[in-house]
Parts: sequence; C-alpha cells; structure tokens
Amino acid sequence: MKGENKNLTQATPFLPEPARIVRTYYLTEDIKFFQVRIVDMKKALSFNYCPGQFAMISVLGAGEAPFSISSTPSRPGLLEFCIRKAGTVTNALFRMKENNLIGLRGPYGNGFPVERMINKDVLIIVGGLGVAPLRSVLLYCLDNRDQFRRVSLLHGAKKPTEMIFREEFFALKQREDLECHLSVDEDDTGTWTDKIGVVTTLFSLLKEIDPSNTYALVCGPPIMYKFVIKELVNLTIPKDQILMTLERRMKCGVGKCGHCAIDYIYTCLDGPVFTYWDVIHMRELI
Ligand SMILES: Cc1cc2nc3c(=O)[nH]c(=O)nc-3n(C[C@H](O)[C@H](O)[C@H](O)COP(=O)(O)OP(=O)(O)OC[C@H]3O[C@@H](n4cnc5c(N)ncnc54)[C@H](O)[C@@H]3O)c2cc1C
Ligand code: FES
Repeated sequence: MKGENKNLTQATPFLPEPARIVRTYYLTEDIKFFQVRIVDMKKALSFNYCPGQFAMISVLGAGEAPFSISSTPSRPGLLEFCIRKAGTVTNALFRMKENNLIGLRGPYGNGFPVERMINKDVLIIVGGLGVAPLRSVLLYCLDNRDQFRRVSLLHGAKKPTEMIFREEFFALKQREDLECHLSVDEDDTGTWTDKIGVVTTLFSLLKEIDPSNTYALVCGPPIMYKFVIKELVNLTIPKDQILMTLERRMKCGVGKCGHCAIDYIYTCLDGPVFTYWDVIHMRELI
C-alpha cells in the first residue's frame, strides 16, 4: 500500500507545518516520548496517516530527520513519537520543552497494509526502538479489534529499564483479546516478572499459529531480523505476509534527493515497510 502524502504540504512538499509539543518525557535514559499537535486545528484533525508511516520533524537552526509515527490514526488530533538521542536534530529536540514549536511534514512512506490484514491473525514482534512504528499498528488493531482475528505481541528489550512503554505493555497483558509476551535479555533489577531471554525465546509461548492466515510484523535492531525471520519461516508464514520496517538515511522523504535509494528502490517511497519476499534477494536491506 502506497502512502498518501496528500495531507499537509502536497503543493509545497518541503514546507513544514508548525506543531506544538503537548507532552514530552523520558521513556528510557536516551529515548524520549513526544506528543505533538499541529497548530492549525483543521490540519491537525485531517492529518490522515497509516500505521508504519513516518513524518519529517524539524527544529529551527538544527535541521530535520524522519521519525516513525507511534500513535494510531484511530485517535486523531495528536501525533506521538519515540525519539532516541542520536545527533544534531535529536539533541535539539531533547532540549525542547512542552509548548515549544517544531516543524512537521508528512506523512511519508507506505505504511502497513492494514486493509489486507483484516480478518487475519496479526503477530507483532518488536525489539528495542522498533516499538516506535509497531505501537501504531498494535493500537490500531486494538482500537478496531473486531476487524482482526488473533492479535499477538512479542516484545523484547535488553533490560527492564530499556523496555519502551513498559507500563503500557504490562497493562495490555491484562487484556483477554491480546496475547502479549514480554522479555528482557537480562534482569539487572531483580524485579522483572516476565520472561528472561532474547525475543525469539517468546515464540515457544505462542499458541498454535495458523500460518496462511497470519501477518507477521517485525521491527527492531538489525541483528534481530535474521533470527526472527528464521522463526517465522519455520512457522511457514508466507514470505509476502512477513512485513518489516527498514530504516535508511533519508533527507527529503519524498523521492527527490536519492539519499535513501538502494538499487531501484527508494526506501522513503517504496518503504519503510517491506515484505520478506521484497527484500529476500537484497542482502543490503537486512
Ligand atoms: C523511516 C525512518 C523512521 C525513523 N524513525 C525513528 C524513530 O521513530 N525514532 C528514532 O529515534 N529514530 C528514528 N529514525 C532514525 C532517525 O531519523 C535518525 O537517527 C536521525 O539521523 C536522527 O537525526 P540527528 O540529526 O539527531 O542525528 P544525525 O546527526 O543524523 O546523526 C545520527 C547518527 O548517524 C551518524 N551519521 C550522521 N551522518 C551520517 C551519514 N551521512 N552516514 C552515516 N552515518 C551518519 C552520526 O554519527 C550519528 O551516529 C528513523 C529513520 C527513518 C529513515
Ligand atoms: S529520502 Fe530523498 S529520495 Fe528518499
């Protein structure tokens, strides 16, 4: 599914829209949550996006960078992001406070094909900051729960303090319409109550899978893909139903600058969501 970049700035694709930081707080030592609202209320309410799409966020004098939208389109008006402190733009963002203004343009990219997932099982596998785009699709499935069959989440982090949205996911474990398994590689706090081990150890906890009717969605650190995909292939989930979001360095986000190109693929337009079938022969991508 192609992203529809017709929301804010189709006529002037590089012009950011002013947006106000409504809430911001630390999720982990180096990752912050940002809830923002486009200042123009009409545009805020009509910002139409699909889970898995991203926005370009800018800070005056620092530049701009792409970030996955972590909120769900089923709750319009506010946009949420989880951002790791990495360089110029993110350092500037970390210095900003509630009520400060940022620039925002988008949404960009293709996003997850949620219409194709209707009446199917959805299995979400997340590692670390991979939660950023997958929280959007998880909340979307939960808000439209009757449209999907089984919804399962396997979420891994290195340590309890590094599990992004830890409280939110522990609360979700109480839901009967979601199979939610959480793991940490190591528990340095002695307080962890769920599984210890890498995220792939959680596969053994899953109830029986119906592979031909399952869409598996994966996002996490590069090393995770190899092992998770091996599990999914062993479960005989079709390769075109294994979806992953892949990040490449981007500048324009709209297919003009070529920064994100790999062969004939522009990851800002053709991605960031790819099927395993799309990338199986592209060693560079995973
Ligand atoms: C589709 C998409 C979605 C994303 N979603 C998120 C998200 O939800 N949350 C999040 O935290 N991040 C996300 N990112 C990553 C984020 O865009 C980058 O971390 C971005 O570079 C941060 O900008 P910066 O100016 O703070 O860092 P930069 O100043 O760009 O530096 C980031 C790192 O890249 C290195 N670097 C700088 N220039 C280059 C170069 N030319 N080649 C190679 N390395 C270089 C720097 O040394 C540094 O280690 C996403 C990226 C993409 C493409
Ligand atoms: S980021 Fe410019 S072409 Fe993709």
